[in-house]
Amino acid sequence: MTNRLGRRPQTTKLRSQQWFDNPDDPGMTALYLERYLNYGLTRDELQSGKPLIGIAQTGSDLSPCNRHHLDLARRVRAGIEAAGGIPFEFPVHPIQETGKRPTASLDRNLAYLALVEVLYGYPLDGVVLTVGCDKTTPALLMAAATVNIPAIALSVGPMLNGWHKGRRTGSGTIVWESRERLAAGEIGYDEFMEIVASSAPSVGYCNTMGTATTMNSLAEALGMQLPGSAAIPAPYRERGQMAYQTGKRIVSMVNEDLKPSDIMTREAFENAIVVNSAIGGSTNAPIHLNAIARHLGVRLDNDDWQKLGHDVPLIVNLQPAGEYLGEDFHHAGGVPAVVSQLLKAGVLPHPDAVTANGRSIGDNCRDVETLDADVIRTVAEPLRPRAGFINLKGNLFESAIMKTSVISKEFRDRYLSNPDDPEAFEGRAVVFDGPEDYHARIEDPALGIDENSILFMRGTGPVGYPGAAEVVNMQPPAALLKKGVHALPCIGDGRQSGTSGSPSVLNASPEAAVGGGLALLRDGDRVRIDLKKGSADILISKDELESRRQALVKDGGYAFPEHQTPWQEIQRAMVDQLADGMVLKPAVKFQ
Ligand code: FES
Ligand code: MG
Repeated sequence: MTNRLGRRPQTTKLRSQQWFDNPDDPGMTALYLERYLNYGLTRDELQSGKPLIGIAQTGSDLSPCNRHHLDLARRVRAGIEAAGGIPFEFPVHPIQETGKRPTASLDRNLAYLALVEVLYGYPLDGVVLTVGCDKTTPALLMAAATVNIPAIALSVGPMLNGWHKGRRTGSGTIVWESRERLAAGEIGYDEFMEIVASSAPSVGYCNTMGTATTMNSLAEALGMQLPGSAAIPAPYRERGQMAYQTGKRIVSMVNEDLKPSDIMTREAFENAIVVNSAIGGSTNAPIHLNAIARHLGVRLDNDDWQKLGHDVPLIVNLQPAGEYLGEDFHHAGGVPAVVSQLLKAGVLPHPDAVTANGRSIGDNCRDVETLDADVIRTVAEPLRPRAGFINLKGNLFESAIMKTSVISKEFRDRYLSNPDDPEAFEGRAVVFDGPEDYHARIEDPALGIDENSILFMRGTGPVGYPGAAEVVNMQPPAALLKKGVHALPCIGDGRQSGTSGSPSVLNASPEAAVGGGLALLRDGDRVRIDLKKGSADILISKDELESRRQALVKDGGYAFPEHQTPWQEIQRAMVDQLADGMVLKPAVKFQ
């Protein structure tokens, strides 16, 4: 492997000394030095051979989920200094999942690119990655993967549990549920707002097993965080203590030259896939882990997710698949307790994979007890068996992910109960071109949506809706909700919030906007999904499909909205599909 931007052979000096202590170029050394002296650092410190440690700060007023990192950074700095390093805190392009339009995932690759430039271009020997809200974790791990200087992640931690009238209210999950109740006229707008606000009671990220808890848990499972770090709620004292320990540890990692490529190996990704099934992780996880792997040159695709993850049971009882929230997960033992259960059952494939503290994941977790057996179950008595993803393929797309752990009893009874064909369902397609089209037409009786309809959302992949929107989980029309039908199968080339429990087929690649099979689908087509075979097809002849394709090409292809910003245009021109991590194609060669 060549061209590892930050690679430092054990025998050479610290990377930062190329800037601050380079006897071959005293003029440039002086120029580099003088500006960092102007706020009180001394020449002695900068030329002492102490490691310079970046703190990649993702907290800001625009990023409430990660805002607490502004406080935690004080403890990170203290840890760095206690271990003999010099901290350099700097801002990362903000990514707030709920506030960014058109979608926060447009910004993952932008934050990645910018952080690569910072890590490569400044005198940093190692970096603490402050992670939390959904896309911040993959963006920062991707950059660390590309530059490959010693790096450790620090989660900001989940919010405290939300409560309303004696019931746990979980981020996102309660919003989807309350929106249905609002639409069905069961509650008014004020009560709706009160319930939704109750789910966000403190600093921190989403307290459900959404994309944030998933990605932070997987950062720990990959070995990129200290053991036990992911689950500590943001306001707890242990969170500040973990920040201090993380700061201390990164200095040793620089001294040991322990780099992302040493930790995030193929084996570590295989462990993470298994952990993802066990925790009931988000369907965004394959997108982000495949992306991180590509930036390391590690082979990983959606077939691996099914092969390694599908048969693993769900053992963590967190919403949306279960009932508890982030505080409960922490009290039960967090990620180390989950890994311990997997180790006991012999299900974790690579106990020897090395982690950020220099020990193996097996050694870190083997003796960890589960402190609440209702929140973290055993592999022998799980919440659900075979809870991983299925990777569907057919004439609709080459790859799409279905999260089997959230398929409800209602859905199973209605769609998967045919004794001759227990894992297949067929339905009539109702097709929407983007979320605006869905909102405009979903209540239109002329669509004839009934219990046997399958809702399709297209034009929402990385190119179509730049960045790929979280819009595939579509609420049925009010008339069906009133009849008690709470979910229809949804299929699309966009994504779904990790906090949603809808039985959806997601991340379809290639997307309609680049000529994928979804672009050829028409209202009223019969579609068949077979979970056992892993197939998803429009039930029409090859000839008909081909003539539709030619008609589409003649029409100039599937139309998508104009670019609204320069980045939308730049990214659209070079972004890969969701199955391949939605990475910037030219960036993956820098490894
Ligand atoms: Fe930021 Fe969920 S919106 S973590
Ligand atoms: Mg999300």
